[in-house]
Amino acid sequence: VGAFFCPDTIHPMKIERQSPCKINLLLNVIRRRDDGFHELETLLHPVALCDDLEFMATAAGIQIECSHPGLKSDESNLIFRAARSFLETAEIDSGVYVRHEKRIPLAGGLAGGSANAAHTLRGLNELFDHPLNDRQLHEIAAAHGSDINFFLQDSPALATGRGENIVPCGPLPALAGKGLLLIHPGFGIPTPWTFRELADYPDALTGDAAKGEALVKHLQQADLQPEPNLLYNSLEAPVLPKYPLLRIFQEFLTARGAIVAMMSGSGSTTYALTDSPASAAALKDEFVGRFGPGCWLHALPLSSPQ
Ligand code: C5P
Repeated sequence: VGAFFCPDTIHPMKIERQSPCKINLLLNVIRRRDDGFHELETLLHPVALCDDLEFMATAAGIQIECSHPGLKSDESNLIFRAARSFLETAEIDSGVYVRHEKRIPLAGGLAGGSANAAHTLRGLNELFDHPLNDRQLHEIAAAHGSDINFFLQDSPALATGRGENIVPCGPLPALAGKGLLLIHPGFGIPTPWTFRELADYPDALTGDAAKGEALVKHLQQADLQPEPNLLYNSLEAPVLPKYPLLRIFQEFLTARGAIVAMMSGSGSTTYALTDSPASAAALKDEFVGRFGPGCWLHALPLSSPQ
C-alpha cells in the first residue's frame, strides 16, 4: 500500500489507466462568443508523458488519493467531478476510489487535468462494464471543460467550437520520428486570464478559420518545416509580453536547431519540436547549461500512445 491508504473496496477488480497530456501544434482563436468562451480551431497532439490512475469500486462516496500535495480531493478536482457525473448518469449506487500518481505539471497548458477527467470516465466505464455509450461520455466531458473530449480518443485531432468538437486526423507522416522537449518555467498561467487578455490583442482574437485543415494537409504530406503561418498559437499574444522569459526560451531553442518552439495551450509550458528524440535530449542539456536547473524539463519521442 505504501504511502496510499487501503480503500474499503467492494469488488477486487482494479482498473489502471495511463493519462497522457497534449501539445497544441496550432491554436487559432477565431472570435469571442456571447457566452464568454472563444471559438477556436486547434490541432492537438497527444504526448506520452502520463499520470497513472487506478480505479476501484467502493461502498459509497468518491475518494481520491493524489501524490501531489497541491491537488485537493474535493469538488475542485476534475477527477471528482467526472466521477460524480459518471456515477449519476450511469445510475450507479456504489462509490469509487481513485489513486492518482501526478507527473504532468499543473496549469501548464498541457491539459493534464482534462486528461485525468477523460481517463476517469474511460476507466470507470470499464470498471462498471460499459454502462455509458460514447455520446454520453462526450456529453459529460463537454460539460466539465473544453479539453476533455480530446482525451476520450488517442489520436492527433483537430478540435473546433470551444475545443470540445473533435475530428481525429489520422497519421501525420511529417511528424514521424520527431523529438519533443517540454519546458515548464516553474509558474503556471491561469487559462481564464489568458483568454480575457486577448481582448487587448484584436489581431490575435480574430484568426481566419480553416488554418487547422491546411496544417493537417501539410503534416500529412510534407516534411515538417517551420511554418509561422500554420504552426502558431494566438494565445502567445497576451502571454509573451507579460512573461518575456518565455520568448527568450523560444529564441534560444530555435537558434539551437528546434524546428519549432512554441507555447502549448494557454501556457506556461514551452515546447520544442526537434529532428529526433536524441536531439530533444541534447537540446535539454543545452537548455540547462544556458538557463540553469530551475525549470522542469522533459525530453521524449513525439509519438502517439496507441
Ligand atoms: O473549458 P475550460 O475549463 O478548459 O476553460 C477554462 C477557461 O478558459 C474558461 O472559463 C474560459 O474563460 C476560457 N476559455 C475560453 N474559450 C475556450 C476555452 C476556454 O474563453 N475555447
